[in-house]
Order: sequence, then structure tokens, then C-alpha cells
Amino acid sequence: MIRAMYPGSFDPITNGHIYIAERAAAIFDDLTVGVLNNSQKKYTFSKEERETMTREALSHLPNVRVKHFEGLLVDFMRAEKCRVIIRGLRALSDFEYEFQLALMNRQLAPEIETFFIVTEARYSYLSSRAVKEVFHFGGAIHDMVPPGVFRRLRERFPPLPGLRQA
Ligand code: PNS
Repeated sequence: MIRAMYPGSFDPITNGHIYIAERAAAIFDDLTVGVLNNSQKKYTFSKEERETMTREALSHLPNVRVKHFEGLLVDFMRAEKCRVIIRGLRALSDFEYEFQLALMNRQLAPEIETFFIVTEARYSYLSSRAVKEVFHFGGAIHDMVPPGVFRRLRERFPPLPGLRQA
């Protein structure tokens, strides 16, 4: 049984993240989605909100569990008995950061392997940051995020006066 870990900030989860989780869940026996809470970082959504939205969005995948974590990813992975890190790649520009992350994690925990899953072209421009910005300025994002995220974004950021939110 090979347990994998898909870590991230998921602030919030997008359809691009869901695609990567679905592909990883089809290959590995068990997938833990680790929602990072870094106390040094400011998030749009709290760790509970990010964990809940992520769990809702992946509830159709029976072998997926969602948990939040703090501290080093490799420590969380050892506690969860996970051997493989899953990361999504959208473009070459992701690679440099991902390469550094993978090598750092290997230095810290040589028994852990990083696997990359390439996204689908229709998600290659998607990021949590871009989704929030487009939403903020009234752009249509309902086909970029799951319904629960769309609803919470609307609750959190009501339309600006004079701006019609799509
Ligand atoms: O969604 P993100 O923000 O690109 O995910 C980044 C994440 C969570 C994978 C990375 O920041 C992480 O693993 N942080 C935990 C701290 C850690 O282990 N750092 C060592 C590697 S630099």
C-alpha cells in the first residue's frame, strides 16, 4: 500500500487542484491532502475554511483524506506514513520552485519521493491568487472553482458597489 501526500496552501482550492488530486487518487492507494497552515503567512481563508472547502471539493474521491498541518511537510508525512509527495506542474515557470522544494525535501527525508503531475491545458493559467483577483474585480470564475468555494468567495467579498459580479 503506497500512501501519497498532496500538500498545498489551497487558499482556496481550484478546479486545477481538483484535477491533480483526482489523477493522484487514481494511481495511489491512499491520498492525504495536506492543507498547510504557516503562522508566518497571511491567508484569505482560515485553516478551518480551507480544510472544509478542500474536503467538500474532494468528497467524491473515497481514498482521499484532507488534514491541515503546520511545520515541515516531511515531519507531517512521516507521521501520516506517506512516501510520495504529489505536486502539480502548470508551466515551465513552476519548475524552478518545485525543483528546489523537491531537493530540499529529499535532503530532509531521503526516503520520500516527489512525483509531478502535469495539469491539463485548460487549467494551466489557474492559480488561487488569480482566481481571487479576477473575482474581486467582478470577473466570472464559476468554472474555475468548485461551488462551495464560489459561494464562500461571494459571502466573503460581496460585489463592490457598481460592479456586477459574474
Ligand atoms: O500551495 P503552495 O503554497 O505552493 O504549497 C507549498 C507547500 C505547502 C508544498 C510548501 O510550502 C511546504 O511544504 N511547506 C511546509 C514547510 C516545509 O516543509 N518547508 C521545507 C521545504 S522548502
